[in-house]
Amino acid sequence: MKITVVGAGAVGASCAEYIAIKDFASEVVLLDIKEGYAEGKAMDLMQTASLNGFDTKITGTTGDYSKTANSDIAVITSGIPRKPGMTREELIGINAGIVNTVSTSLIKHSPNVILIVVSNPMDTMTYLVHKVTGLPKNRIIGMGGALDSARFKYRLAEALGAPISDVDGMVIGGHSDTGMVPLGRHATRNSVKVSEFLSADRMAQVVEDTKVGGATLTKLLGTSAWYAPGAAVSGLVQAIACDQKKLFPCSVFLDGEYDLKDICIGVPVILGRNGIEKIVKMELDKAEKAKMQESAEGVRKTNDLLDV
Ligand code: LAC
Repeated sequence: MKITVVGAGAVGASCAEYIAIKDFASEVVLLDIKEGYAEGKAMDLMQTASLNGFDTKITGTTGDYSKTANSDIAVITSGIPRKPGMTREELIGINAGIVNTVSTSLIKHSPNVILIVVSNPMDTMTYLVHKVTGLPKNRIIGMGGALDSARFKYRLAEALGAPISDVDGMVIGGHSDTGMVPLGRHATRNSVKVSEFLSADRMAQVVEDTKVGGATLTKLLGTSAWYAPGAAVSGLVQAIACDQKKLFPCSVFLDGEYDLKDICIGVPVILGRNGIEKIVKMELDKAEKAKMQESAEGVRKTNDLLDV
C-alpha cells in the first residue's frame, strides 16, 4: 500500500507520522515544493522508526510527482494555512490554484488513486477536485467531519466530566465556523443521550465551542492546528487501506442525498477499499435539516467563487 501526502507542513507531516506509527502502509511519500523540506521531514521521521517500532518507509521529494507513481491513496494538504482572525473561506484565491495543480499532477502518475482533500476551504476544494479531475465520486473525499467530530467529543467529555472514550458524537455539514452542524441530539455517553446529563444551555455552549474549534487553536498557535487534523486524516487513510468499512462524516459529492445536489459537504459515509462505499442516511429532525440547508448555502457561496 503506497500513500502520498502532498504538503510536508505541520498537517502533512503529522499525517505521515500517524500513518507510519500505525504501521499499515508499506510506503509513504511526502511531497513539498519547498526545496529539501519533504526530504528533511521524511528523514527525521524515518529516524523515529526504530524508536516507535514501525516498518513503513517514508521518503520525501521536492515536487517530483513521478516519485508518487502508483499511489493507492493521496492526501492533499497543500496551500496556505489560516492566520489568526482569518476564516477558511479567505484562503480560496491561493489554494484553489494549488489544489487544481496538485490533484491533476497526482492523477497523471496514479490513475487509480483515491484522493483525500484537507486544504481549506475544504468542502469547496473537494468540489473543485471533482470538477477538474472527473474522478468517480467514491474516490474523492474531503476531510473535515472526522476532525470536527473529534473536537465535539473533546468538548462533550469536558462538559460531562467524562472520559472521551465514554462519548460518541458526530458533526456533519460544512467544515467552517458557521457551517458545522454538531448533532447534539444524537450524542451519547455509552448509549445514554447526553441530554440526560447536560442542560440545553451547556449543550449550546459545547456546540459553539466545537464550531470555532479550529479558530480557537489558530488564535493560540498563530497558525492552524496539526495534531488532530493529522490524526483524523490517518484514520480515514487506514479505514480505506485496511478496508475497515468504518463510518466517518466526510465531505462527499451529493446527488440528491440529504436533499442536496451538486455540492460536497459533510455527511456520514462508510469508508473501505473503494473509498466511499456508501453514503449513510441519517434521520434528521426539522431543525437539523434546516441547519444542513443553511450550511449548504454557505458552501455554495464559496463554490461560486471558483472559476470552474
Ligand atoms: C482545522 C483545519 C485543518 O480545522 O481546517 O484545524
